[in-house]
Amino acid sequence: MRITIIGTGYVGLVTGVCLAEIGHKVFLHDINQEKIKLLKSKKIPIHENGLLKLFKKHLEAKNLRIESDPNEALQASNIYFICVGTPQLRNGKPNLRYLFDISNKIKDYIDKNKLNNNTFIVLKSTIPPGTTKELQTKIFKKDIYKNVYLGSNPEFLREGNAVYDFMNSERIVIGSESKEFIRTIKKLYSPLSKKSKIFITDPQSSELIKYGSNAFLATKISFINEMSKLSDKVGGNIDDVSQGIGMDKRIGNEFLNAGLGYGGSCFPKDTRGLAYTFSKNKIPSKIIQSVIDINNKQRKYFFNKILKRFSKQELKSKSVLFLGTAFKPNTDDIRESVGIYLINMISPMVKNILIFEPIAKENSINALSKLNNVRFQKTSISKIDYDCDFMIIATEYPEFIKIPHKNLKKLKDRVVFDGRNILNREKLEKNGIEYIGIGK
Ligand code: UDX
Repeated sequence: MRITIIGTGYVGLVTGVCLAEIGHKVFLHDINQEKIKLLKSKKIPIHENGLLKLFKKHLEAKNLRIESDPNEALQASNIYFICVGTPQLRNGKPNLRYLFDISNKIKDYIDKNKLNNNTFIVLKSTIPPGTTKELQTKIFKKDIYKNVYLGSNPEFLREGNAVYDFMNSERIVIGSESKEFIRTIKKLYSPLSKKSKIFITDPQSSELIKYGSNAFLATKISFINEMSKLSDKVGGNIDDVSQGIGMDKRIGNEFLNAGLGYGGSCFPKDTRGLAYTFSKNKIPSKIIQSVIDINNKQRKYFFNKILKRFSKQELKSKSVLFLGTAFKPNTDDIRESVGIYLINMISPMVKNILIFEPIAKENSINALSKLNNVRFQKTSISKIDYDCDFMIIATEYPEFIKIPHKNLKKLKDRVVFDGRNILNREKLEKNGIEYIGIGK
């Protein structure tokens, strides 16, 4: 089938490349000409496992085409995947401007060309419940645009694993009032139907599934983070607590790791978006707001552990080895990264911070350029310079677990603050290294 992807950000690019991989002819379009230029030069703007290889493969095989002209992009197919950004306004309300702009462009294109063949508009961008319906009633009025079919088809891609997730997802959710839309989009995904369950519902429910999934996972994280404070108080080990709770299949042990809290482009935005949606609908909701508040306070809780261990006076002369600024391992994304927040909090208190970040270094250098006591290590993990006073871990890179204790002993104070609970206290203490984790 021929498909046009509108918006080649993280979601659009992964979706387009993977749709080409499952046998479709895909046209990628973006209003950002810089991005188009980059894509045309066979490069991609993000770091994502396996994506570049597939992108090049399908460009060469001509299953993928980059379209800079909006009319040509719309002409290329009659299935439009809308993957434009829905950034947030101050009050948590998602900004749907780009979504409405492109919808109006599609409408103008249909009007101008007097099209009356079937057109499918697939909404992949994360949108508040009711948005698909709103587009239908405000732009594509059913009595005029009889052959324009709309539906919601949210993504559940984890950064760093997005290609794998697309190809192996547990569910593909399609929400539409139109049988024609469901039939067509189901057919489009049929190469994946052996691995993924295709779940059909109405658009509002589909939109709620997206918000609800992310908010529920964020709730698990905030729940265990709140428990970690109690575990600290009573002398428990939150890793064991999490493991023990998660052994109950009804709960499961994923997303129950206590630490610095969640970051990234989805959880923070979607929890705020859901909280906004509750308040807009005048439904009092405490859970989501608490999840957000706990998450925002978790880094302060960790920061206070540093202040408890070292006086403000002592900190002034300390150099800190800081590991990890990406919001999670194996991505160059630093959006709402707790590591970046922490560095901004710690920097004014200490002499200097020496950062090691394996993937997101370039983005982090830009984000922290205003801090003059921050430097980045230019090396690989095996050659990190440990000539600092103490260490902080802020991202759960698996390679940080394997750092030999003899290296940690080079830290002058021999203290490690583990913001992701990835190291083993007993083993470190046996080697004379002080360990400060969260809830253990
Ligand atoms: C998430 C969802 O998993 C995905 O389905 C959705 O489509 C987009 O949002 P992503 O943002 O890539 O994906 O990150 P994810 O792997 O879910 O982790 C989010 C954050 O939670 C990270 O900062 C991570 O460090 C943190 N986290 C995760 C915890 O603090 N504890 C955990 O147990 C798990």
